[in-house]
Amino acid sequence: MRFLSSRRRHPAAKVLLLVAALFAVGALYAAVAPTEQSSAEPATSQQVKEGQQLFAQNCSSCHGLNGEGTSQGPTLQGVGAAAVDFQVSTGRMPLAQPGEQAPIKPSEFSEQEVAALAAYVDTLGPGPGVPDPSTYSGEGLTDEEIARGGELFRTNCSACHNFTGQGGALPEGKQAPSLVGVSSKHLYEAMLTGPQQMPVFSDEVLTPKDKAQIIAYLQTIHAQPNNGGLSLGGIGPVSEGVVIWTVGIGVLIGFAIWITARGVRSR
Ligand code: HEC
Ligand code: HEC
Repeated sequence: MRFLSSRRRHPAAKVLLLVAALFAVGALYAAVAPTEQSSAEPATSQQVKEGQQLFAQNCSSCHGLNGEGTSQGPTLQGVGAAAVDFQVSTGRMPLAQPGEQAPIKPSEFSEQEVAALAAYVDTLGPGPGVPDPSTYSGEGLTDEEIARGGELFRTNCSACHNFTGQGGALPEGKQAPSLVGVSSKHLYEAMLTGPQQMPVFSDEVLTPKDKAQIIAYLQTIHAQPNNGGLSLGGIGPVSEGVVIWTVGIGVLIGFAIWITARGVRSR
């Protein structure tokens, strides 16, 4: 630390100081920047309250006022936020008529309301959280890994959903739906929560990586059209943040070094 105390500072001191300042700004940014909604993010009490109200109005007739279950619907204690996100955003819940297979329809609730319902049900007992986009994006999977996803699909899923996921009939008038056009998030949540006759594929049975490979396989063979916009790998705000962050800060550091170098020269 001699160069800091001596009166004529070493030219590198300025650069070091600037880099340190940039890190401080970075740390501050990380602390205040909005983060992607994920299972890790604790729900606000406001959200839970809103969810509880929505639940009382729309769900409690079948699932009980505290999600304890009734003769019309199962208990939701411990099903987790992932099950609610899946059931409500695919339009299965609220069920109109008990007894039939919940039809898939446009959701009655906004994304925010679904998140509130999920946050409330999550407080009833520990269960799987809504997965983070990075777990199902399939980012960086090789062709071999995607092919392995195909093998896993044929072993674990094709008995009900058919070899290419076109869906198929099950006993008692039920059916395993087609998986064409199902979002990666809902594919992941279905495996995680096992709706109706579908088994739960816990992380011990199919690791998150196995699930991601199955999803990548299905998305590849169904080749969904892109929804538009610059996808940046399709994992949304997280990747955008990273790009802005690294490119932006890289430019700033370069600029700072340039200024310092000029300052030293002109002295
Ligand atoms: C008419 C009765 C009825 C209403 C109303 C209803 N449900 Fe259900 N719900 C059911 C039945 C029956 C099942 C089990 C059969 C199935 O999974 O399709 C179920 C299953 C579920 C599951 C899956 C549980 C599991 O073990 O994975 C979730 C989550 C759920 N409901 C959430 C909700 C939410 C949230 C609402 C309100 C927005 C709601 N339900 C409204 C009857 C209902
Ligand atoms: C025993 C039969 C069975 C197996 C095996 C099975 N599923 Fe399912 N799956 C179903 C049934 C039945 C439903 C419909 C549940 C409902 O409507 O509530 C379903 C629903 C789904 C959905 C929701 C589709 C939508 O349109 O919302 C997805 C996604 C899914 N399955 C993926 C898979 C994957 C991936 C595997 C293998 C890892 C798998 N399933 C294995 C029976 C099965």
